[in-house]
Amino acid sequence: MQQHIKQLIESRISANYFDTTRPLSDADIAELVRLATLAPTAYNFQNWKFIAVRSPQAKARLKAVSYKQQKVEDAPVTFIIVGTLAAHEGLPQALKPSVDAGIMSQKVADGLVTMAVNSHPGNPQLQRDEALRSGSLAAMTLMLAAEGMGWNSSALSGFDPAGVAREFKLGENDVPVMLVTVGFAAPGNWPQKPRRPVQEVMEFA
Ligand SMILES: Cc1cc2nc3c(=O)[nH]c(=O)nc-3n(C[C@H](O)[C@H](O)[C@H](O)COP(=O)(O)O)c2cc1C
Repeated sequence: MQQHIKQLIESRISANYFDTTRPLSDADIAELVRLATLAPTAYNFQNWKFIAVRSPQAKARLKAVSYKQQKVEDAPVTFIIVGTLAAHEGLPQALKPSVDAGIMSQKVADGLVTMAVNSHPGNPQLQRDEALRSGSLAAMTLMLAAEGMGWNSSALSGFDPAGVAREFKLGENDVPVMLVTVGFAAPGNWPQKPRRPVQEVMEFA
């Protein structure tokens, strides 16, 4: 992680072709997930799971439910980024390390739990929104971490959510948010594409 964040953002591409001969170690994969979990979430819910699909068999199952996208087979790993519903139920546990570390008092933690418990149950839209927000922030953090470690990545929403849930035994509270392939780019990838001009997408208020 030696490059400046601005350079990483400017150099990142969505890779379509991956070098099939260069693996990532399990330690590399776990480090990417560790960095991804440093992404922020509402209340520090950490309402996510990461499935690192890296065996040939698991890749074949994932490819079959992601419109046969070849990069799922070619890249050494594709992460299924899962956001979880009913995040309020896990909040006391999620906040405990912050209390134990003296970052927040138990009273403050209890207050946050009360706020979440008052707003999340019975509000499936909010639960889903938070699952998608958390999963998306984790996905982007993971892609930038990969870039910083000298690898390449691509986000994929081209998959069948029901198929992914079935093949990877997701629970009823698990929302597959995005797939992220990571590996070493092979020749032939497009460069980063031009973006719409800032003045077209931004306004001051
Ligand atoms: C949420 C999301 C879903 C995407 N789904 C796919 C996909 O299923 N297949 C694919 O080849 N690229 C997919 N992409 C990659 C985009 O096409 C790519 O990020 C965009 O064209 C910009 O490319 P660049 O980042 O290289 O500039 C996805 C990107 C995002 C953010």
